[in-house]
Amino acid sequence: MFLVTLFNEILSLLFYTSLLPPHSSADHVGAYGGYFSQSYGPSGQYTFEFDGDETFHVDLEKKETVWRLPGLSEFGGFDPQGGLSEVAKARHNLDILIKCSNSTTVINEVPEVTVFPKSPVELGQPNTLICAVDNIFPPVINISWLSNGHSVTQGVSETSFLSKSDDSFLKISYLTFLPSADDVYDCKVEHWGLDQPLLKHWEPEIPAPMSELTETVVCALGLAVGLVGIVTGTVFIIQGLRPAGASRHQGPL
Ligand SMILES: *[C@@H]1O[C@H](CO)[C@@H](O)[C@H](O)[C@H]1NC(C)=O
Ligand SMILES: *[C@@H]1O[C@H](CO)[C@@H](O)[C@H](O)[C@H]1NC(C)=O
Repeated sequence: MFLVTLFNEILSLLFYTSLLPPHSSADHVGAYGGYFSQSYGPSGQYTFEFDGDETFHVDLEKKETVWRLPGLSEFGGFDPQGGLSEVAKARHNLDILIKCSNSTTVINEVPEVTVFPKSPVELGQPNTLICAVDNIFPPVINISWLSNGHSVTQGVSETSFLSKSDDSFLKISYLTFLPSADDVYDCKVEHWGLDQPLLKHWEPEIPAPMSELTETVVCALGLAVGLVGIVTGTVFIIQGLRPAGASRHQGPL
């Protein structure tokens, strides 16, 4: 398993705005045509990113440009042929590099998996579960979802491999779901860096409803604490008044 990663161009654009003080300028990075090719499959990828998020990738099989979000295509078009030829060049270079390295294989990293909901969970309110898989190397992975132990494919989508500064990759999988008290979820990750598929469990945290007895006890305790407070307060007030009177009596006559 070998890999070559090349970036055509990385542009760092500085945006200054007269409305902001000079030091609160924002830096943005657009990665135009990040691509790689690897010997497993063989497969490759061609993507455009903005500030670490994918804007589009070229589907190498269907030979078409796939925008990450609907609406992004309004900002321009991209001829998928450009991506296809870059990946083909990368594949050619890869063969040369494999020979140069005397076929030294890459080391498999252990991916890091985190699962969390997109919005605060409310039962019955549609939400999205996010499975972020970091430190992926090499970029060959299967990310899938289980609901109550059964595989789910509906409502599932994922990003391309997103580039990281340390040459590993990040990939995010999404599952739209309807939170319910009975359903539990797992994000399943298969990678050569893992001895066996990793299951990252997630289930909604539902506060246990208070029983009537608990409510009564809490209410009674609250009332008791309040009464004790009134009594103690009254005692202190009386004590506070007394020394003035007492000193009058105890003073030298
Ligand atoms: C290249 O790999 C082969 C087979 O693994 C080995 O026999 C050979 O010594 C290696 N050559 C170099 C220059 O490392
Ligand atoms: C991903 O799934 C496919 C199909 O089940 C399997 O052949 C492949 O080995 C899996 N990849 C990894 C990295 O486990």
